[in-house]
Amino acid sequence: MMLGLAKQIDEAAAFVHSKWSGTAKAAMILGTGLGGLAEQITSKTAIPYADIPHFPISTSPSHVGQLVCGELRGVPIVAMEGRFHFYEGYSMQQVTFPVRVMKALGADTLVVTNAAGGMNPHFELSDVVVIDDHINLMGDNPLRGINDDRLGPRFPDMCEPYTRELSAIALQAALELGITAHKGVFVAVAGPNLETRAEYRMLRGMGADVVGMSTVPEVLVAVHAGLRVLGFSIVTDICLPDALEPVDIQKILAVAAKGGEKLSRLIPKVFERLGR
Ligand code: HPA
Repeated sequence: MMLGLAKQIDEAAAFVHSKWSGTAKAAMILGTGLGGLAEQITSKTAIPYADIPHFPISTSPSHVGQLVCGELRGVPIVAMEGRFHFYEGYSMQQVTFPVRVMKALGADTLVVTNAAGGMNPHFELSDVVVIDDHINLMGDNPLRGINDDRLGPRFPDMCEPYTRELSAIALQAALELGITAHKGVFVAVAGPNLETRAEYRMLRGMGADVVGMSTVPEVLVAVHAGLRVLGFSIVTDICLPDALEPVDIQKILAVAAKGGEKLSRLIPKVFERLGR
């Protein structure tokens, strides 16, 4: 099963190359409500996921479901406009397959974004969080199974999954743009339900600042594949266990759009400095 993976990656990458002749430097995953950044990609070719061999098909609301290849501030990029979530029923291998393909297309850096619940009481709606570290509570792992040593090591190191140098560039760029950005620990849960008050209390007690239902699988595979990683969360709901209010997905999407506008200013500025 796993040894067939390398072949599937090659086939998917070859298909993308038949539509786009570039070589990627960076890969990007745009999370729920955060697709606006794709508009800034120039000289672009958009390829629907459904056309790419071995890609799963996105079912989530507000997720477009295409691979956008082009340039962002002169940096060749492949970007996922819409991601695959574990809660949609995909396996961890399906959720992370596109990361393998983006690496095969040449990317050495992954920028990943998501909408998340804010548990740190200092965080406000639509704030940007630069992910400093994570906790995997999804109950599964994309690296489980036979390891293909050509793709990465059996026991990948996790002492610095999010590249400090990139986080520092992002925090500095946010400061220059006047965008509030915090450093924080992201905890991933399987979803699809939001958390109970007792769960938010537990997650906060564990040391997490934000909680979401994505990102960790893709980052685990990115680290396995040797990619540098920069992660952003947008705080789309405030999760204080003693003052918890019901959230609805429309409200989360509206706040994500506001945060997405900030990332659309911040991430291009990071890209200007990527090569340095
Ligand atoms: N919990 C989990 N995932 C989320 C949340 C949340 O509160 N908000 C956005 N994604």
